[in-house]
Amino acid sequence: MGSRVKPRLGIIGGSGLYESEFLEAQETLDVVTPYGKPSAPLEMGKFGKEQVAFMPRHAPEHSIPPHRINHLANLWAMKEVGVERVVTTSSVGSLKLEIRPGEFIIPDDYLSPWNIPTYHDEEVVHVTPKLDPSLRVRLLESAQKAGVQARDGGVYIQTIGPRLETVAEIRMFREFGDVVGMTMASEATLARELDLPYASICTIDNYCHGVVDEPLAYAEIVSVQREKADDLTRVLHAFLEAAP
Ligand code: HPA
Repeated sequence: MGSRVKPRLGIIGGSGLYESEFLEAQETLDVVTPYGKPSAPLEMGKFGKEQVAFMPRHAPEHSIPPHRINHLANLWAMKEVGVERVVTTSSVGSLKLEIRPGEFIIPDDYLSPWNIPTYHDEEVVHVTPKLDPSLRVRLLESAQKAGVQARDGGVYIQTIGPRLETVAEIRMFREFGDVVGMTMASEATLARELDLPYASICTIDNYCHGVVDEPLAYAEIVSVQREKADDLTRVLHAFLEAAP
């Protein structure tokens, strides 16, 4: 792998975060994996002391819908270039009135029993899922430094997508979780299988279907995602500045 940058940190940018402009000494690396093509070539670069590999989860033009993302290839590519831990940004809807759109949340657990990707199809291996506690703390501290309000902990429920959820589904999910998204649990599971510590900061972009009286439209979700992209970038800057 002939790259000048030897990335230690992988960043997967979610909806709203497609650019790696914040990195210096950029170069692009096309990684081929045994699982096919990742969402995009890896952007390799530096920020302060931290060497980073960046990938937009939905591709740079947001052309890959959540249920078609090749998470196996994305996480594998990160491991392949030498990344030691992975931090991501994700978009979620809120299941609870007190978890308000416009805020951020750093989940400490997830629920996703219906769509579980794995590298272990041909051998008997059972990992125990977890979101990395020390990366979570670093993300929380970074949000604080960036002046961004982030909730410490919460259960992320992953749906398959691409459709949003029914009111009845949301009524059920409210009993078990705090926010709903379509990608983080798959990534966290695969990162665990690759022994890569993983944590995510999520933008709360809407109330889920039926949580409030106003009708839910995808356009509303996209507009909050756009508004929050600068905040997310500032959190990531603070995270990278504090690199050990
Ligand atoms: N449901 C599922 N995924 C989401 C939502 C939602 O309401 N908002 C942002 N990602």
